Amino acid sequence: MAFVSESTEQYTSNFITEMGFWLILLTLGTVLHTSICGMLYPRESESREVVLLDGIWKFRVSPTEDQEKGFAEKWFSTNFEEWMQMPVPSSYNDVTVNATVRDFVGWAWYQHEFYPPKRWWVDEQRVVLRFGSVHYTAVVWVNGKKACEHSGGHLPFEADITQLLLYGIANLVTVAVNNTLNLTTLPQGYVQHPNDTARYPPGYVLFHHDFDFFNYAGIHRPVYLYTTPQIYIDDITVITDTDQDAGIIKYIVEYKNKQVDLPSTPQCTVTVFEQNGKKVTSVKGVTGKIHIPKANFWWPYLTNPHPGYLYTLKVSLGSKRIQGEDVYRLPVGVRKVTWNATTFFINNIPTHIRGFGKHEDSNLRGKGLDYPILIRDYNLITWLGANAYRTSHYPYAEEALDMADAVGIMIIAESPACTIDYFTDELLEKHKEVMTEMVRRDKNRPSIVMWSLGNEPKSFRNESREYFSALVNHTKSLDPTRAVTFVTSQTADKDQAVQFMDIVCVNRYPAWYSDSGQTDLIQLQVKNELIAWHLKFNKPVLVTEYGAGSVIGMHMTPSSMWTEDYQVITLKEHFKAFDTLYKEGFLIGEMIWNFADFATPQEYTRPGGCKKGLFTRERQPKMAAHITRWRYWTLAHNSVNVTLPDDLLFVAMVAIVAVFCVRKEPHALSTGSLLQRLAAEGADNQSLTTLQALVREPLIPLKGIAVGTERIANYLVHDMSKTISEQVHNMLQFSILPYGTCHK
Ligand SMILES: *[C@@H]1O[C@H](CO)[C@@H](O)[C@H](O)[C@H]1NC(C)=O
Ligand SMILES: *[C@@H]1O[C@H](CO)[C@@H](O)[C@H](O)[C@H]1NC(C)=O
Ligand SMILES: *[C@@H]1O[C@H](CO)[C@@H](O)[C@H](O)[C@H]1NC(C)=O
Ligand SMILES: *[C@@H]1O[C@H](CO)[C@@H](O)[C@H](O)[C@H]1NC(C)=O
Ligand SMILES: *[C@@H]1O[C@H](CO)[C@@H](O)[C@H](O)[C@H]1NC(C)=O
Ligand SMILES: *[C@@H]1O[C@H](CO)[C@@H](O)[C@H](O)[C@H]1NC(C)=O
Ligand SMILES: *[C@@H]1O[C@H](CO)[C@@H](O)[C@H](O)[C@H]1NC(C)=O
Ligand SMILES: *[C@@H]1O[C@H](CO)[C@@H](O)[C@H](O)[C@H]1NC(C)=O
Ligand SMILES: *[C@@H]1O[C@H](CO)[C@@H](O)[C@H](O)[C@H]1NC(C)=O
Repeated sequence: MAFVSESTEQYTSNFITEMGFWLILLTLGTVLHTSICGMLYPRESESREVVLLDGIWKFRVSPTEDQEKGFAEKWFSTNFEEWMQMPVPSSYNDVTVNATVRDFVGWAWYQHEFYPPKRWWVDEQRVVLRFGSVHYTAVVWVNGKKACEHSGGHLPFEADITQLLLYGIANLVTVAVNNTLNLTTLPQGYVQHPNDTARYPPGYVLFHHDFDFFNYAGIHRPVYLYTTPQIYIDDITVITDTDQDAGIIKYIVEYKNKQVDLPSTPQCTVTVFEQNGKKVTSVKGVTGKIHIPKANFWWPYLTNPHPGYLYTLKVSLGSKRIQGEDVYRLPVGVRKVTWNATTFFINNIPTHIRGFGKHEDSNLRGKGLDYPILIRDYNLITWLGANAYRTSHYPYAEEALDMADAVGIMIIAESPACTIDYFTDELLEKHKEVMTEMVRRDKNRPSIVMWSLGNEPKSFRNESREYFSALVNHTKSLDPTRAVTFVTSQTADKDQAVQFMDIVCVNRYPAWYSDSGQTDLIQLQVKNELIAWHLKFNKPVLVTEYGAGSVIGMHMTPSSMWTEDYQVITLKEHFKAFDTLYKEGFLIGEMIWNFADFATPQEYTRPGGCKKGLFTRERQPKMAAHITRWRYWTLAHNSVNVTLPDDLLFVAMVAIVAVFCVRKEPHALSTGSLLQRLAAEGADNQSLTTLQALVREPLIPLKGIAVGTERIANYLVHDMSKTISEQVHNMLQFSILPYGTCHK
């Protein structure tokens, strides 16, 4: 198959021969027809209605001493007698003022009423109830009858409730949700019943987990009712490829039929539209291959003037005359992901990854999907000049990935296997099932370039070897087109599982978790460690986590842990190491931990949560966000000649003047000589032109350009012996925003 290849070759999706494609079809066939059906996102069309059930639902928790009470008393069969009001979607933990609810572990209950329109019954529509994500185990009843059960947060599940609906009166949906984790759930958790009566009262239950974020629970994503005709499109799979400037879309449409006596195979028409609605081409058949001459490829943000280009694939199944027609429109990005031993390519162009790990986390909402936060996050991602993030440490909302597809953000899609241990066969089966659900949901997304099997497992254990080998094989059988990896926190000599991965992904925290306070060691350690990984495995290396915690507003010089200054210096030292390693050729990218501060369990190492964010939990920038922005835009500028945003150019000017100021060369502050010297030393033209424009601008005479104080300037300038152009280069790499008056 495509993914088994010599290490010097380029691993590529265009190796997916016709045979490979049919193998995928067969695999999908076995998987999808037996155990699970498709999981297309509910989208309105001329044949489908979509109704959102989000809003304020009734909520109650089981008494801690009697967790089975709701089942015994059949809380699902009638309206709750007692309840509190609970927003859906949201985690339930942080919206009340009650610690029992915040820290609740066990069965919690939700209830809501709705009225399906009578026309659904008249038109004999199939009606589906779909949950985007309920954490963790969910049991759903409609009108007192069980509709479905699902175990696992972060992924959707649905039930055909056509037969359970009542028309003309209120319908009652009840959801019981249990956030208890154990050794066969992903992630794992531990329930303990301590027997030390000197410390714990009888019956006391303790719940622990190793993963480092709050175990939020509840109905986290939208709840939809949607309809389809009796014969309906159950799933669509697309695999795209490029052939010079042409695009290729191979597709498979799977359909289901609720009518027993279907006369014949329904007709299927697939039509491709440009983003502006113009028709490209149309083909017939439930499987096929579409050729788009001079295609608009899907490109990551800041690699092309039109990133995130999406075609629309309109699938029409059935005939209006005989069985009614089902129509579904799928956004499709045409792109190819490949890699060799040193380099990662999008559409054959070597591509560096600039990003971070994130969390689905915010004030009050916990892990609940919230549109203002979603859009704010994407505005901050593009403001930073980042082109990627990892869905650490679980699959994110489909709505978030829709944005990634459309904006052109590359995604490393991670399973919920965070910090797993105890590699049993039972856990492996669960893990395979989760990978199947993940790939099924997200296989068509151009934004997803890698699958991550998990984060920081105890992969020094020998049992992890067989476990991850089997898991890679399983995931490759579901999707041979994307890179498969997991994120390790082990060292190259101890890790047992990285050998099976396509890309080496490493989390490492020099000067934070190890050698705390010693930022002078960062460059040495990062270089040695990453080189060791590449030498051992001859694979591309990606840094998936590094960073330092900072409490916003806390400053110190010399810097000290938890200050913003320390976080900035930690990042800057890493930047220098990465620049050296890019020259070595095998480093494919850098990802900071974390995009924003987030909630963790209460711990003495966590002052109100994890503070490693570039942004606060409220999504406002720390000092580290500014230097990261500077770094990421500069990397984009250096690789594909992206024009810097005006304010960053201004910062460059300030920085340049700061250098002169520090070097006590006030004569250089006269425009002519400054420009001449900078030009002579090879300063880049874009900066010079803008500087020229700035100094001509009467409002900002050069001498008046705010320049750094000694402190800031010292901060910016690393080595006074360097030439001006080296200094300018440093500025472009590292400089930051603050400016005051020049100390003459
Ligand atoms: C990987 O691709 C890059 C860019 O095309 C090339 O420079 C490098 O030699 C290739 N590496 C291997 C091991 O083939
Ligand atoms: C907190 O919620 C629990 C569970 O609903 C309830 O038993 C308890 O009385 C509440 N505590 C307060 C102070 O309201
Ligand atoms: C649900 O919660 C209870 C109480 O914490 C726990 O004992 C039980 O194992 C959980 N059941 C499931 C299916 O998760
Ligand atoms: C662990 O939790 C899962 C899902 O909640 C449940 O199905 C399973 O029975 C539990 N296992 C044990 C050993 O409690
Ligand atoms: C109490 O718990 C400990 C540790 O879980 C166990 O080793 C011990 O046997 C238990 N003692 C009793 C009396 O159950
Ligand atoms: C793990 O495997 C290695 C070699 O494959 C072996 O040397 C080592 O003893 C094993 N460790 C354990 C704890 O079994
Ligand atoms: C995974 O596939 C490889 C290549 O086919 C094979 O050598 C290996 O034994 C498989 N791993 C497991 C655990 O089956
Ligand atoms: C960089 O972009 C600018 C503006 O689009 C263009 O004028 C210039 O020729 C480009 N330079 C290179 C080296 O591509
Ligand atoms: C930048 O480049 C352009 C074209 O190469 C040139 O005309 C212009 O003088 C340059 N600007 C500076 C400030 O050197």
